[in-house]
Amino acid sequence: MSDHTVIQPGHYKGYPTTMTRASLDAMTRQARKDQDGFWLEQAERVHWHKKPTRGFEGSFEGDVSIKWFEDGLLNVSVCCLDRYLTDKADQVALIAHREGHGPAEKLTYAMLHERVCRLANALTHLGVEKGQRVAINLPMVSEAVVAMLACARIGAVHVVLFGGFSADGIAERLVDSGSVAVITASVAYRGAKIIPFKEMMDTALYKAGADSAVHSVLVVRTSDDAVPMLPGRDHDYHDFVDSFEVDFVPVIMKAEDPLFMLYTSGSTGKPKAIVHACGGYIVWASYTMDMVYAQRPGDVLWCTADVAWITGHSSVVYGPLANGGTTMISDSLPAYPHPGRWWDLVDEYKVTMLFSSPTAVRAMMADGDDVVNRHDLSSLRLLGIAGEPISPDAWLWYHDVVGKKRCPVADTWWQTETGGIVLGPIPGVQSLKPGSASRPLPGIEMAITDTRGRVVQGVAEGSLCIARSWPGQARTIWGDHARFCQTYFTKVPGLYFTGDGARRDADGYYWITGRMDDVINIAGHRLGTAEVEDVLGEDHRILESAAVGVPHPVKGEGLVVFIMPRKDSATELTEEGVARLITQRLGRYAAPEAVYLVPDLPRTRSGKIVRRLLRKIASGETENLGDLSALTDPSVVGAVCNRVWGAM
Ligand code: WT7
Repeated sequence: MSDHTVIQPGHYKGYPTTMTRASLDAMTRQARKDQDGFWLEQAERVHWHKKPTRGFEGSFEGDVSIKWFEDGLLNVSVCCLDRYLTDKADQVALIAHREGHGPAEKLTYAMLHERVCRLANALTHLGVEKGQRVAINLPMVSEAVVAMLACARIGAVHVVLFGGFSADGIAERLVDSGSVAVITASVAYRGAKIIPFKEMMDTALYKAGADSAVHSVLVVRTSDDAVPMLPGRDHDYHDFVDSFEVDFVPVIMKAEDPLFMLYTSGSTGKPKAIVHACGGYIVWASYTMDMVYAQRPGDVLWCTADVAWITGHSSVVYGPLANGGTTMISDSLPAYPHPGRWWDLVDEYKVTMLFSSPTAVRAMMADGDDVVNRHDLSSLRLLGIAGEPISPDAWLWYHDVVGKKRCPVADTWWQTETGGIVLGPIPGVQSLKPGSASRPLPGIEMAITDTRGRVVQGVAEGSLCIARSWPGQARTIWGDHARFCQTYFTKVPGLYFTGDGARRDADGYYWITGRMDDVINIAGHRLGTAEVEDVLGEDHRILESAAVGVPHPVKGEGLVVFIMPRKDSATELTEEGVARLITQRLGRYAAPEAVYLVPDLPRTRSGKIVRRLLRKIASGETENLGDLSALTDPSVVGAVCNRVWGAM
């Protein structure tokens, strides 16, 4: 297959890199031989109030404990701002573009520092203290970046909540995180759609009721329309914040103090907040972005990820700023108001590195080559992707049509839990293989294990694990360390299990085969099928449900739901109604592709629903349904097939 396409680094002659094959190999060897020495050296890349002398301490066994640089003291906002005030004060740190709002706002390091300090003062004035949680629910506006850094400055733990979550989803997360303050916007624009952020937040806070600890809400006005404000709780962001002082003495944090937490989905219904620690995370964000993106003066890095994802944290905010670069954000869509919108922006802002998702690549590919070819994309030098598998075809389109075969494509594999890039190529140094996320960065000890949990060497396929800790590793799940141990460290004792399957080829390149747990990946958004089934389980009209992921031409995967109604409810329950319930309870991103009401679900003799079979049926795989003899009632399959294929 595509294993055969290999693009040698020599193809990108003159690609600016200070690394060589030999220096890369030397790093890998050093990290293996002297883990602590290697990472203590890497830790020098950020500014410490007190430099650490200790590397990794902890264990993946038993009650798993992960600590890095424990005696170090720092403030992450200083690493990203203050340290550049001497030599880069007037360099643009952030370009913030808003669709339909004229030229982008450009904030220099000095300006960003001022805004962060003002908000740090304002939050302190509101009573927010070190260690407390602040929820950030904002579209891609400059205030989102300011808010994250201001929390870091006062030592508060930020919890960025995705704009696609429903009011229920937000309420649940506000309560679980114990957030005391919220920073939101009046509305967000998604193409022609207006999303009422403040209204959703009001509903969420109402639903959370006394379970919520939120005492203050700052509202960034993103439209001219009036928004209801609750006196005493709500404040207009700029009216309130802009009068505060432009300096704020950073709160000195221990390396292991939490910096932020971020919700993601797993195989059980309850969303979990992954916790990242100040010291290890910022070293890792800086290191990984430098290894793959290596920003140089004049570079503009546009990572199109929403700030609510780990990519938004590490590749939009913390990595690029810790490295003194220029980062760009935009709330635009690739094809609004016209196809090729992102190419306009690449040209207008002279983007040199574009980092996006396979979903966006597939969508833009569907708009045709002409759209791309009408634009001047000569500013680009590197193309990145992450978040989901990409087919060699889409990879090659990105490379050939967008990058004109001039720009390497870096497919990077990572997770909320890994904090930053784990697998990815060193552009200009390593060969590229379309469809592969390349090799582990130096310092990462990847492992593939077989069905019995044994580590397999060489060419192998199995569970993707990481054998040793790395500084950016998640420390725990907020409020549920037992779940953390259980989820990541029991499947293969002694190793971190990623949840993904992968194949390693003879050159040591990794090919991700997809999630091995019940998590589906819709346009790069992780969704637990159990999350969907839990929501449906609360509806008394539904006896049982099964959610599965099916291949989708643009989104990678789409959600399909099978519903077994209670006998007496069969008439009142509609497929549209079930779809509405899912989006209402979880959010728009979880909108199913199809809902099927079926009389029964295929089960094994032990009563387990055979999701594998449902997935095949929902994908239209009419042949090869496999051996059905192990099912309790094979005739159920016929009824399900009739319902699904009759509808196709
Ligand atoms: C899951 C993590 C990249 C960070 C943002 C997503 C899938 C991630 C790739 C890739 C194939 C990928 C995995 C992973 N994934 N990158 N390059 N190729 N699959 O972070 O939301 O925590 O999702 O995304 O399944 O486990 P996340």
